[in-house]
Amino acid sequence: MSHNVTLDETIEVSRPLHEVFAYVSEFSRVQEWDPAVASAKKITSGAPGVGTEFQVDMRAGFSLQYLVEEFKANERMLMTVESRFFTACEEILFEATDEGTKLRYIAQFDFPAPLLALNKIYPSAMDRVGKTAMAGLKAALEDDFETPKESGWLAAADRLVLPGLWRFTKLGYRASRRGWKPVSAYQGNRHALITGATSGLGLAAARQLAELGARLTIVARDSAKAEQLVYELKDQTGNQDIHIQIADLSLMSDVHALADRLLAEGNAIDMLINNAGALFNPRQQTAEGFEKSFALLLLSPYLLTEALLPLLKMSTSPRIVNVLSGGMYTQKIDVDDLQSQHGEYSGSVAYAKAKRGLMILTEEWADRWDDIAVNAMHPGWADTPGVETSLPGFYRATKWLLRTPEEGADTIVWLAASTEAARVSGKFWLDRDQHPSHLSDRTLESQEERQRFLELLADLGESTRSGVQEGLRKSA
Ligand SMILES: NC(=O)c1ccc[n+]([C@@H]2O[C@H](COP(=O)([O-])OP(=O)(O)OC[C@H]3O[C@@H](n4cnc5c(N)ncnc54)[C@H](OP(=O)(O)O)[C@@H]3O)[C@@H](O)[C@H]2O)c1
Repeated sequence: MSHNVTLDETIEVSRPLHEVFAYVSEFSRVQEWDPAVASAKKITSGAPGVGTEFQVDMRAGFSLQYLVEEFKANERMLMTVESRFFTACEEILFEATDEGTKLRYIAQFDFPAPLLALNKIYPSAMDRVGKTAMAGLKAALEDDFETPKESGWLAAADRLVLPGLWRFTKLGYRASRRGWKPVSAYQGNRHALITGATSGLGLAAARQLAELGARLTIVARDSAKAEQLVYELKDQTGNQDIHIQIADLSLMSDVHALADRLLAEGNAIDMLINNAGALFNPRQQTAEGFEKSFALLLLSPYLLTEALLPLLKMSTSPRIVNVLSGGMYTQKIDVDDLQSQHGEYSGSVAYAKAKRGLMILTEEWADRWDDIAVNAMHPGWADTPGVETSLPGFYRATKWLLRTPEEGADTIVWLAASTEAARVSGKFWLDRDQHPSHLSDRTLESQEERQRFLELLADLGESTRSGVQEGLRKSA
């Protein structure tokens, strides 16, 4: 014998029907709004539809297997649920109203009689759980969350080195994510341009943005790799609006040509994600004569971002996300040696100095461009092919502490997509928290150094544009 328990809850939100449907039908995001859920994932490929399966792991220690049985876009979805303890049928009905959208959630649980007899309070407990989840969904859809403020406590911990470094690990990620808010902002009408999406963090960010429904343009240097990746992303996410631009971003001729193509296409860019990167040991120069760390990590995002300004200005909520590194904390910009020509070369130092330069640009662009949210982030230490090949010793020693690429990429996507991140600019982030951009006065540049740095980059922008390759001489 079994016993039925029915939940029937309705909420109304002032969001368009298609936005509500897009958010709720990607049911793997239930973990954002139902506090009883520890994690959830879609285990089938493609966009949600009949046959889609989700696995939902509950905080109470058991899993639910969801199967979408019926699916009508912007109207209704019906899912059956299997678990160790009960089966259920959950129906979600969507309806446009004058103010927005009405959502009705009907769940019918089928408990075996012994389980019910053991716990007579089950129905009321279930009812409470259902009400809490629906309140969470309403808050998620209202999407009115505060932008995280600078925290003196976090800044102090960063300065104590060990607590700061602990934050970079997967343990830091897990501690931070507890307070995170849902991201329900609709991305179906937004366009993200992302560099370095064929691997590691860029790939994880591209996948997350594709799942959110954004149009994607992936900038890659290897067309075969890019085509394979786009094929997989389209298959996994069901998002067919994914495009490729080929450019070797360490070559300024390629960067200018890329920008020209994008400007000629004339599509607005809502999210520009400067992520491509590598660490070079020993010192290398590009065919154009630039030191490679400087070229790829600093001059390239500088030229690309400045050139794409007209397309960013076409967006209603433009964002620029610069992917930096905690290594930046150790270095000051060296305006007299931007390309590591003097003294003994260290790939890590050249890398960190270039990231420091991109942080200065982040602050400068934020000051200059009022309507664009320009932010920088640090992904923590993530297990990516880049870390494994460029820092093998570090990788072996810390592998057990590294985050997944998805965890490292979370803040990239949050800065690009969330409503609250649009309200802040010029800051440095880790795990959706603001962190100081300097841990010591030793790394602060003077106003005069900053000015000279900006002039050098502007000169290089001009000279590379006009085909005059005087990189080494001008920036030395
Ligand atoms: N993983 C971490 O723990 C960590 C920590 C701090 C900062 N970061 C930063 O995060 C970003 C991504 O790093 P990752 O760890 O994900 O590294 P990754 O796995 O090596 O990915 C780097 C990406 O950049 C692309 N790229 C490299 N050189 C390029 C060039 N010349 N032109 C065009 N694309 C190029 C790569 O393309 P290919 O596939 O063709 O090689 C790849 O898609 C970098 O900016 C890195 O500095 C990472």
